[in-house]
Amino acid sequence: MESLWRKQIGNLSLKEDTAGAEMTDNHYDVIVVGAGMAGLLIAYYLKEQGRNVLVLEAKEVASGQTERTTAKITSQHDVKYSRLIQNIGAKKARMYAAANEAAILEYEKLIQKNGIECQFERVPAYLYTMKEVETLREEAKAAASLGIDACFTTDTELPFAVAGAVCFRGQAQFSPLEFIRCISDELTIREHAKVTAIRGNRVVTEEAVLTADKIVVATHYPLRNVPGFYFLRQHQERSYVIALSGCDRIKGMYYGIDKDGLSVRQAGDILLLGGGAHRTGEAKHCGAYDFLTEVARHYFPKGKEEARWSAQDCMPHDGIPFIGRYSIFTPHLYVATGFQKWGMTSSMVAAMILRDELCGRQSPYRALFCPQRIHVCAGIKNFLMDMGMSVMGLVRGLFLRPRCSHMGCELAWNPDEKSWDCPCHGSRFDENGNLLDNPAKKDI
Ligand code: FES
Repeated sequence: MESLWRKQIGNLSLKEDTAGAEMTDNHYDVIVVGAGMAGLLIAYYLKEQGRNVLVLEAKEVASGQTERTTAKITSQHDVKYSRLIQNIGAKKARMYAAANEAAILEYEKLIQKNGIECQFERVPAYLYTMKEVETLREEAKAAASLGIDACFTTDTELPFAVAGAVCFRGQAQFSPLEFIRCISDELTIREHAKVTAIRGNRVVTEEAVLTADKIVVATHYPLRNVPGFYFLRQHQERSYVIALSGCDRIKGMYYGIDKDGLSVRQAGDILLLGGGAHRTGEAKHCGAYDFLTEVARHYFPKGKEEARWSAQDCMPHDGIPFIGRYSIFTPHLYVATGFQKWGMTSSMVAAMILRDELCGRQSPYRALFCPQRIHVCAGIKNFLMDMGMSVMGLVRGLFLRPRCSHMGCELAWNPDEKSWDCPCHGSRFDENGNLLDNPAKKDI
């Protein structure tokens, strides 16, 4: 199912020399694997620093999760700051806030500097609840204590009353593919170049073996299981969106923290209505699109559905993306993953950190996002839950079919997407067994 952004833009029609860049020059300063928002921003900033950069993409530019985003650029990441303060302390929580606030500003500067027309606008972002008022009062206090322009309110534009909300002022939204069309023009990108292996400084594709001083894996889910062990450190979730024309306009962006909470934002004349999130592989009775259609009928009765789609997100155990060295054993290899449901902002955070790291500078955010960090308090409960899910899935996979081609867990049918989804680490396959989403690398 095509997203609104893809429907509006169609193919990105990159300049010919960009889309079909020949790989004759087989050594680069940096090779970035993955041409989603993160990979492209990383490549853009490194090129700006004078690096010779090649981007390799297995399919087409922005054809992964980037085209499925709701494209909010925000430091408001669900109920985040009260938990971060509790789990990792105020100093690190302040760093998380600062990195994401800086990312919003960085987008704005880049867009202004290059005159990019991508419907970028600063708007407030709201968390809302029907019942967890105290949680949001705490969150507002925590965010404000870390320097974010945030306050508690009960006043929103939503077509239903809320018990409470937190407003973050000065956040942003944009049209991601319009933005990418402009920045991609500056880059050397090879589409349909699937990376089959990375060995030391060598990147192996189906057509060529290339070398680079540094290699960045920005493929949503990391390519390699070992080293890094990212499949043990995060799980994946799915969420669903419908796009409606004809509704009354809203100005802010909204995210409900309760079960069945909604994500709402305006995109030009279209209202985006999201929800129905669940762990990948747990959609047996999901009915996410039916739920969203019912909500639309009730609260946005003038709305006419123009598009529907779903997205997949990597959820790290401690709630912080992994950005930096892939592992202590791979000095030339870097990674950016675990962006949760905030892929646009986290992509820019990744670009800022890796720009500094690969150019020999110390990023102020490096330690917090370092993939080798250990935040025991923050992550242990989620780690144990994920381990339990994986063990259960593996045991069931010994007896039941179909089995995932990653490690053999039993797959579950997703009736909304007509796909076979893996509850262990989130791989997905279409009804014929063709691979849709990693970490699996082959069909079933
Ligand atoms: Fe790991 Fe399925 S994704 S076993």
